[in-house]
Parts: sequence; structure tokens; C-alpha cells
Amino acid sequence: MSSDKLLDDKWLKKLDRQTQGMLDRIVPNRKTFGEVFDKQTLLRLGKLISDNVIDQVDFPISTGKEANIFRGTTPEKDFVAIKIYRTSTMTFKHIASYIEGDPRFEYGYKNRRDIIEEWARKEYKNLYLLRKAKVRVPAPLKCLHNILIMDYIGDAAKAAPMLKDVVLRNPQKVFDEIMTFMTMMYSVKVVHADLSAFNILMFRQKPYIIDVGQAVLLDHPSSLEFLKRDIHNITHYFKRYGIESNEQEIFEKLTKKKK
Ligand SMILES: Nc1ncnc2c1ncn2[C@@H]1O[C@H](COP(=O)(O)OP(=O)(O)OP(=O)(O)O)[C@@H](O)[C@H]1O
Ligand SMILES: [Mg+2]
Repeated sequence: MSSDKLLDDKWLKKLDRQTQGMLDRIVPNRKTFGEVFDKQTLLRLGKLISDNVIDQVDFPISTGKEANIFRGTTPEKDFVAIKIYRTSTMTFKHIASYIEGDPRFEYGYKNRRDIIEEWARKEYKNLYLLRKAKVRVPAPLKCLHNILIMDYIGDAAKAAPMLKDVVLRNPQKVFDEIMTFMTMMYSVKVVHADLSAFNILMFRQKPYIIDVGQAVLLDHPSSLEFLKRDIHNITHYFKRYGIESNEQEIFEKLTKKKK
């Protein structure tokens, strides 16, 4: 199948009964999922079920530019977030600018699908690395091709909102914590590279850093530019709470820490 458009009737009729049953099980209300799952992705979800990683896909949380996020439930009844990178719409140029220059991803360019899978793996690895460094990120649980499963941030009723959509009770504390996370990231030589109030979730008054697919190592030729932009986004955002800070000072303080 050449595009993500799937689950159209023609396609469905070709599925054997077992696969149809599996489809019903994973996506109870499959009409809402039709735009996202291509046949391969569906079969991969089937594998995640037979491997007991997930029990079902519950509902969509978000439809972004590059990925769709669903809440899922594990056989142990825990919630997980399932990030499915769309294989047809991801802007190739966008990915290339981050993967190029990352020594972990030195390879000749393969086809689009392979690169997207590399991207999902990169997000998985970055989550792992950051979690090890004690940055508050969702724990990565599994990466299968274009599907990344991680801890779900939120409660039974709804997923945690983005920082940009909440009113903080204690903005200074949240700001300080985000600065601490940036320092911790820098100490393991990682720059988020897309840090903003869109990629921080707030749950029980605590910030969670998400969307780390594009995070780069300090070896990346643009890493310090990305870091400056991250600092700018955060300091700019917190001005609404009357928190004034000097971007250059923050940059210098951060980069002075052990390299
Ligand atoms: N672990 C998680 N737990 C709960 N919700 C999540 C989780 N990860 C992502 N989300 C939700 O999905 C949204 C998009 O996730 P993310 O930023 O990782 O994807 P994206 O591809 O960057 O999307 P966009 O293109 O919109 O930026 C988040 O803003 C958040 O609402
Ligand atoms: Mg995002």
C-alpha cells in the first residue's frame, strides 16, 4: 500500500477473519482510526498485542504534524501512550536536518520509511537516555518500526495538558524545574531542540518533557543554536508570569557546566 489511506472497504474485505477479529479488538471504534493506520501499522499493532505489550488502542489523544498519539491499555490494565509516526506525511527535510550531524545515525540515506523508523528509534533512545539522566520524561516501553510506546502522562479521565494550556499555581517552581531539566540534559550532552510550552505536559503541577525525537547530541553542528532557541522559547513563555530572565546568562551558565 503506497499511502497511509487504509481501512477503506476494499482493503478490509481482503483481510482474513482472524485479522478482522484482531482489528476489532485493537480499535473498537475503528472509523476514527481509519486515517492513521496503514496495513503495516495495523499488523504491527497486532504484533504488539500478541507480544502482550498492549491489549488495545483506546482513543486518539492528538493528531500532530508527524505522528498520531493514542492512549492504549496494557494487559495489566496500565495506560500507555502510543505514538504512531505517519509514514507518508513526515517532512523529509525536517528530519534530515536533525539526523544529519548526529553520529548515532550515520548511514547512507535509505528510503523514507526507513528514515521514519530511524526517527522513531531516535525518540526511543533519547527518552531512555534522558530518563537515565533523571529528566522527567515518559519512560519508553517499546519501539516497533514506526510505533513508539511510552508511559502515558495523565489520568483515567484525560491526558495531561500542554504547559501552554494551563494556568500555573507556582510558575517560578515550574520554570526552575525546567531549567534544571535543561541542565541535566546538557550534562548528558543532549539538547532538546524543540523545547517550548507545546512540548511540556503538566500533570499534578509537575512538568514532563515530551517529543524528544529531534533532540540532538552536542556534537551536532547546530546544537548550541538549538539550545539558544530552547532557552528563548522557555524564558519568553514565562514572561507572562512576570518571570524575567537573561537568555545569554542562562546559556552561559548551562554551557559552563561540565561538558
Ligand atoms: N506520553 C504521553 N502521555 C500523554 N499524552 C501525550 C504523551 N505524548 C504525547 N502526548 C500528547 O500528544 C501530543 C503530541 O505529542 P508529540 O509532541 O510527542 O508529537 P508531535 O508529533 O510533535 O505532534 P505535533 O506535530 O503536534 O508537535 C502532545 O501534545 C500531548 O498532548
Ligand atoms: Mg510536539
